[in-house]
Amino acid sequence: SWTMESFLETEVAEVHKTVGNRQVLCALSGGVDSSVAAVLVHRAIGDQLTCVFVDHGLLRKGEAEQVISTFRDKFHINLIAVDAEERFLSRLQGVTDPERKRKIIGEEFIRVFEEEAAKLGQIDYLVQGTLYPDVVESGTATAAVIKSHHNVGGLPEDMKLKLIEPLRWLFKDEVRVLGEELGIPEEVVWRQPFPGPGLAIRILGEITKDKLEVLREADAIVLDEIKKAGLYRSIWQAFAVLPQMKSVGVMGDERTYAYTAVLRAVQSNDGMTADWVRLPYEVLESISSRIVNELKEINRVVYDITSKPPGTIEWE
Ligand code: XMP
Repeated sequence: SWTMESFLETEVAEVHKTVGNRQVLCALSGGVDSSVAAVLVHRAIGDQLTCVFVDHGLLRKGEAEQVISTFRDKFHINLIAVDAEERFLSRLQGVTDPERKRKIIGEEFIRVFEEEAAKLGQIDYLVQGTLYPDVVESGTATAAVIKSHHNVGGLPEDMKLKLIEPLRWLFKDEVRVLGEELGIPEEVVWRQPFPGPGLAIRILGEITKDKLEVLREADAIVLDEIKKAGLYRSIWQAFAVLPQMKSVGVMGDERTYAYTAVLRAVQSNDGMTADWVRLPYEVLESISSRIVNELKEINRVVYDITSKPPGTIEWE
């Protein structure tokens, strides 16, 4: 009978046979799919795999450190971690249009990835965390690559690499089971979806280091409280957004004039449609009071009660 254990064994053997003694590259995003694909391929070919992790400085709190400690320290995978925050932020300076933000981030990502790949010797294969629904939706694996390319983290077009797609027969829930089978930490295996452009599309208008810092802290509080309430796995995405909005508040005897944070939590099956989550009042209260007490830059928290459509999940 079909078990995840036997699937894993078969895939590992196939990757081993396909690759032979050649070299393989993988772009790690920190998300579930690329993580599981990388660990599986590593089990098959060990040091013939090199992973590149581009930290664009737009990740959530602690995420970059976690990717590095998981892959380098726990799994002993060859990992090139590129701290590219300054590069991305300087290219994003003054940019306010959401689609321009996406385009800049996508292009810069490919550029950094290619620069790193060029420093390595001959590479023949690229690992992709393509899932079954991507293959079906787009018809071919190549089209799926283009899709993931668009999502940041895909294949540079002129690299002429052959693909290894060990997850192409699996659905998301199966990838999570496989990830657990491979011993990947649960924070990675159960991670909620996160957009390629990251926090850049959750800071409305211009992105600055200060705003990033504030949003990153607010977001960490949201996730912490959602996890404490035992709701993390049952919510599609929960996060904070930082609009360009300041309002008057009061703190002690003083008037304040500070940012408003938006709390967003949605239920969804595939991100195409979504319903806002009826979070318990106690959870809303703990998130709100922690954000305004712990972050002096925020004096007001509002909850987005819009479903998709007509609202999108993200605010940009
Ligand atoms: P929206 O905001 O369109 O989001 O309702 C639907 C799902 O897609 C994610 N999303 C993105 N993912 N690059 C990505 O990789 C993007 O530019 C992007 N924009 C939105 C969003 O987080 C949600 O899961």
